[in-house]
Amino acid sequence: MAKILVTGGLGYIGSHTVVALQEKGFEVVIIDNLSNSEESVLHGIEKISGIRPQFENIDLRKKELVQQFFAENPIEGIIHFAASKAVGESVENPLLYYENNINTLVYLLQECEKHSIQNFIFSSSCTVYGEPDQLPITEDAPVKKAISPYGNTKQINEEILYDTCAVGNLQAISLRYFNPIGAHPSAEIGELPKGTPQNLVPFITQTGAGLRAELSVFGDDYPTPDGSCIRDYIHVVDLAQAHVVALQRLLDNKNTSSYEVFNLGTGKGSSVLEVIHAFEKVSGKKLNYKIVPRRPGDVISVYANTSKADEVLGWKTKYSMEEALQSAWKWEKKVRGLD
Ligand code: NAD
Ligand code: UD1
Repeated sequence: MAKILVTGGLGYIGSHTVVALQEKGFEVVIIDNLSNSEESVLHGIEKISGIRPQFENIDLRKKELVQQFFAENPIEGIIHFAASKAVGESVENPLLYYENNINTLVYLLQECEKHSIQNFIFSSSCTVYGEPDQLPITEDAPVKKAISPYGNTKQINEEILYDTCAVGNLQAISLRYFNPIGAHPSAEIGELPKGTPQNLVPFITQTGAGLRAELSVFGDDYPTPDGSCIRDYIHVVDLAQAHVVALQRLLDNKNTSSYEVFNLGTGKGSSVLEVIHAFEKVSGKKLNYKIVPRRPGDVISVYANTSKADEVLGWKTKYSMEEALQSAWKWEKKVRGLD
């Protein structure tokens, strides 16, 4: 079986994808610099799959170390998760984001060229669509000017891949994630944000666990049925599975062009208040929340048209938003030693 490099493989989505790859028999090697993860995630992966993957603590910004890694490790495909992802931080420190999210991709692609590695999967985001003109969003929707440097790095990354695939032997797939939530059903791995969570679901589960006094709902005066923003929340285990399917498509040469793009979402939009009430139902806890002013940069409503992933990739989500919340809650309780 092919050896697959997973960059950022100790992070939230990467760790779930490592497990999904191992379950399909792939041999995985992880590169991660632990800037937003812990080495103990390896233990969680091993508990689920029975296999401790090879791990290299390498900072992908260090070009010489990247070159050395590829000189020593024969790789057949790469899934590139490693990046900085906090939208607010990217506004405050854009150069950190341009360096970490752009340089690292360029260095990896240079090694692909040097070592004839053809198969590349990239973590993109629905953020590339900005405030969409039409819902649900198809892959043909225009890419709008990015609101944040983080969003801009994803657009530039996609352009770099498009241009690179147009000339050499590289074939790449960009996966545009909607809102990943939840944890592995075993609760051995999950999302563990450092510091105060910026994203909705970890803030909800930490409030439920008593770590946070109160959740702020950013606005209830949007033009949506209940006034709060709408997103497409996808279970991280479904998302992980899609990476295996996309990789297999490239390995089997089933792709129809050298660069392809897919939306990864459920196709169903849920409002912030709906998520809160669903959490209350699955946890049996009343959540302390208050309505506060809108958060700058938030779009009103985004959810995916999933037809392309369904028909071309042959992949569909299996889990509901409620099941994802249940797994997130189980994980939070385990991490906090509750129950
Ligand atoms: P994460 O922070 O949990 O995982 C990223 C991992 O990459 C971390 O373990 C971090 O230590 C590592 N990393 C960062 N910079 C590195 C470097 N220079 N060298 C080596 N390792 C490095 O994030 P995640 O939520 O798992 O996101 C994975 C990818 O998916 C990112 O590219 C992110 O932008 C993208 N994405 C995430 C979301 C989301 O909501 N989580 C949505 C859309 C897209
Ligand atoms: C954000 C980023 C997106 C990035 C993703 C993962 C923006 C515009 N988008 O998505 O690019 O890929 O994070 O890091 O920043 N909310 C609250 N209270 C909270 C937290 C969130 O009401 O404490 C609301 C938000 O206003 C939003 C929804 O919950 O309506 C989801 O927010 P969040 O989880 O941060 O994801 P996005 O903003 O959709």
